[in-house]
Amino acid sequence: MSITVTVNGVKQACNAPADMPLLWVLRDVLGLTGTKYGCGAGLCGACTLHVDGVAVRACVFPLSGAEGKTVTTIEGLSPDGTHPVQVAWKLEDVAQCGYCQPGQIMAAAALLAKNPKPTDDDIANALAGNLCRCGTYQRIRAAVNRAVT
Ligand code: FES
Repeated sequence: MSITVTVNGVKQACNAPADMPLLWVLRDVLGLTGTKYGCGAGLCGACTLHVDGVAVRACVFPLSGAEGKTVTTIEGLSPDGTHPVQVAWKLEDVAQCGYCQPGQIMAAAALLAKNPKPTDDDIANALAGNLCRCGTYQRIRAAVNRAVT
């Protein structure tokens, strides 16, 4: 049985178990490896993407939950990497090892879509669950603030 999901604007018939985490459907079935695996338990935020515009943790989000919905991954956030958050990320030179950055960017983009003028507290709260082992938090917050203005 296949489950139809629109991923980055393309309708996909996914031949995978309904309870398979969306993270593995994307990475192993559809070949979209921009969404990262960190903890696999919904705790680190590395796998953050959007389902109908809402930030979710793909490692604990079943394929069935995305049926008929629109999924946006880091690959689809903007076709040419010019989403304001991506531009701000480059200008602030945020990434260190880079592994958590797709999830951080997707969390920030979801925040700004919902709240175009977030306060520092709003930014801190929205990104509190996205962990970075390199400790780039100051640059992340600077980049989100830059994307706001
Ligand atoms: Fe999904 Fe850590 S890999 S939250």
